[in-house]
Amino acid sequence: MSIHDFERYQLTFGPSPVHPLERLTRHLGGARVWAKREDCNSGLAFGGNKVRKLEYIVPDVLAQGADTLVSIGGYQSNHTRQVAAVAAKLGLKCRLVQEKWVDWDDPVNDKVGNILLSRIMGADVRLDPAGFDIGIRSSWEDAIAEIEKEGGKPYGIPAGASEHHLGGLGFAHWASEVAEQERELGVFFDTIVVCTVTGSTHAGMIAGFAALEDAGGRPRRVLGIDASATLAKTRDQVGRIARHSAALIGLERDLRDDEVSVLEGWAGDLYGIPVESTIEAIRLSGRLEAMIIDPVYEGKSMAGLIDLVTSGEIGPDSTVLFAHLGGQPALNAYSAVFD
Ligand SMILES: Cc1ncc(COP(=O)(O)O)c(C=O)c1O
Repeated sequence: MSIHDFERYQLTFGPSPVHPLERLTRHLGGARVWAKREDCNSGLAFGGNKVRKLEYIVPDVLAQGADTLVSIGGYQSNHTRQVAAVAAKLGLKCRLVQEKWVDWDDPVNDKVGNILLSRIMGADVRLDPAGFDIGIRSSWEDAIAEIEKEGGKPYGIPAGASEHHLGGLGFAHWASEVAEQERELGVFFDTIVVCTVTGSTHAGMIAGFAALEDAGGRPRRVLGIDASATLAKTRDQVGRIARHSAALIGLERDLRDDEVSVLEGWAGDLYGIPVESTIEAIRLSGRLEAMIIDPVYEGKSMAGLIDLVTSGEIGPDSTVLFAHLGGQPALNAYSAVFD
């Protein structure tokens, strides 16, 4: 069994672009920095990392004959926006539980950006006052039960599609796509930097790269930068999903602890609240590369990359790949930060 044996419903344009960040590399003065761009991977509502996860979940949705996708996230969830997009594309209904994951008092926080796009795409958006949690929520289970009671055929997709049994496959596939692009470009990324919150993006990469290594590929580090600020939970979730996904794609050994690396130091105290290093990373990436990143996710992982490269923790001989996972629509709820 390998990742290529799983059915995939293509929602992306094809392999996402990979390109060097030359001005950022020069500015940091160390490792060569490249980016792989999930923020422009699809024509569905600006794309993003969840579109890739959903490519492996949609065959199950269709096999079950579901008529409504039911998912959950914060007000500015990129995930729920991508679920709404996929539902629209497939001609399904979409019910979204949008919780108050971030105590961010911008008056348009529940009106602009991701939530606006979900409404435009026809999703039934319900606000819920509950706070941040990456686990399974009763409000989501209640929404599923409600649709069943009304005679619908719901298909539940948990937060970030992470606690879904196929949730890690999208980024296991991403790993094989990277290996293919490396061959074409004549480059090798010895270090990958990825933002981690609900876990299955990072976990899928770990599984995918472990399988490539076991098939004779060169070893590399996959560094997750925590942006959840609930580190123990996220670490546990990444490890669990990575092991599950690795077994699914036929890895015949347990993952080593050093393969599951979630680093702390850039999340601040709370999910969704940018700190000084987040804002600096967003400005630097914008000024030097016109690469727009957001205050919740990649602003934090880019802050991590900047520190790891400038401190030499990622050495000057390294070539590092920054996973841009999308998420720019949320910027609309953070305009005051850049006034
Ligand atoms: C833009 C963006 N970056 C990073 C992440 C983190 O991915 P994951 O939840 O799979 O850890 C998410 C989703 O949570 C996201 O929307």
